[in-house]
Amino acid sequence: MRFKYSIPVVFVLALVIIEKENKIISRVSDKLTLKQPQLLLPPDSALQIPPKPNQNGSLTFHPRTSAKSKQKHILLLATTRTGSSFVGEFFNQQGDNMFYLFEPLWHVEKMLTLEGGGTNATASAKAYRDVLQQLFQCDFSLLESFIEPLPVDHVTTNLFRRWSSSSLCAESVCSPFVQGDFEKFHCKTRKCGPLNLTMASQSCLQKDHRAIKSVRVRQLETLRPLAEDPSLDVKFIQLVRDPRAVLASRMVAFEKYKNWKEWATQGNVPLDDDEVRKLKGNCDNIRMSAQIGLKRPKWLRGRYMLVRYEDIARFPMRKATEMYEFAGIPFTPQVRSWIVRNTQVSQNEASGVYSLQRNSSEHVEKWRFSLPFKIAQVVQRVCRPTLKLFGYKVVNSEKMLTDRSISLIEDKAFGSL
Ligand SMILES: *[C@@H]1O[C@H](CO)[C@@H](O)[C@H](O)[C@H]1NC(C)=O
Ligand SMILES: *[C@@H]1O[C@H](CO)[C@@H](O)[C@H](O)[C@H]1NC(C)=O
Ligand SMILES: *[C@@H]1O[C@H](CO)[C@@H](O)[C@H](O)[C@H]1NC(C)=O
Ligand SMILES: *[C@@H]1O[C@H](CO)[C@@H](O)[C@H](O)[C@H]1NC(C)=O
Repeated sequence: MRFKYSIPVVFVLALVIIEKENKIISRVSDKLTLKQPQLLLPPDSALQIPPKPNQNGSLTFHPRTSAKSKQKHILLLATTRTGSSFVGEFFNQQGDNMFYLFEPLWHVEKMLTLEGGGTNATASAKAYRDVLQQLFQCDFSLLESFIEPLPVDHVTTNLFRRWSSSSLCAESVCSPFVQGDFEKFHCKTRKCGPLNLTMASQSCLQKDHRAIKSVRVRQLETLRPLAEDPSLDVKFIQLVRDPRAVLASRMVAFEKYKNWKEWATQGNVPLDDDEVRKLKGNCDNIRMSAQIGLKRPKWLRGRYMLVRYEDIARFPMRKATEMYEFAGIPFTPQVRSWIVRNTQVSQNEASGVYSLQRNSSEHVEKWRFSLPFKIAQVVQRVCRPTLKLFGYKVVNSEKMLTDRSISLIEDKAFGSL
């Protein structure tokens, strides 16, 4: 064993010498101080092939043989009611090679919520970015500081929707169950004790890939340091959905949309209302993030993919395959069979607002029969550039809205850049 580790150590020392002026030094020394041999030597790492000295007797650095070169970090960015739980499952179901986290930023947003609701956009953007950056490195310490009550010895009974992340309910992260220990979001698949984040971190470090889903990041640009972090290989997947469908869905699911519900059943939507401004703000944020992504700035090249929920719902297997191709990780039989099982079920079997099982094709246009035309008009007025960018057709009458023969989804390919 000792010999096995000595090779990468020699290799790393050589790196330090060769790349003296390079930023890589700080990265390598960070790793050395972590005292985690598995960090340097993942199970199937190319490092197991000893590098050959060249004629000059020195070791040549090949970027492709670096321990992290195959490791991918996928960030699924969405907003609420865009089908992100469903799409997140594409990665949650990947299997043993993936460490998946479901909405870890829930805790951050909750703690940073100001009196009277809302957050300071600047402060929360920074906190979101820093927490994500650590989590992609399997470090839960900053996230811990946002969990209420504060974890004791890195153990918490309160991690939001632990059960939605199969990685956090895996056997290796399942501490012995203690009678009477109450965990709000306990695992459904097996009986575990409260979540030990040290165990979660150790399990995360063993995985080839990491994926995080979040509906909380407002602007893609705020995550630029993640894209530029040389220790990460981040792939951003931005998931969007017709804002009219999103509003229709939020009106059903969320209490705080009660004003919209009132406007839908009685009177008209006031022109300059806070709710309308919020809707416009949401649409603008989503559009601006996508515009940055689609413009292919250098820092995002090869790292950004835009996906419409409507395309995923209609062609789930094709879109999932594309996402995996973009991320550069193998599409597994587990993902395939999950998609088959969860997109063919009948509507009757789908129950509950957060239900994942649904008839995807039918589901995608259902909102057209529940959203009053006058509400659709408001969305179209304040979100028009967003609708246009993503290829959602504007309706000009109630008749057009509810005419099944007219699709409101234009064919549009965004590609991955
Ligand atoms: C040996 O070192 C010299 C000077 O650094 C370099 O120009 C040359 O390419 C090296 N030879 C090999 C085979 O790497
Ligand atoms: C928001 O947070 C930033 C950074 O923490 C701070 O400088 C700014 O004053 C805050 N803005 C408001 C309106 O509180
Ligand atoms: C959490 O897990 C780690 C690693 O297995 C272990 O050393 C530690 O004792 C556990 N913490 C508690 C409070 O059980
Ligand atoms: C799903 O919905 C589509 C469109 O309404 C329909 O054609 C299809 O038969 C449904 N599939 C199942 C399995 O219910």
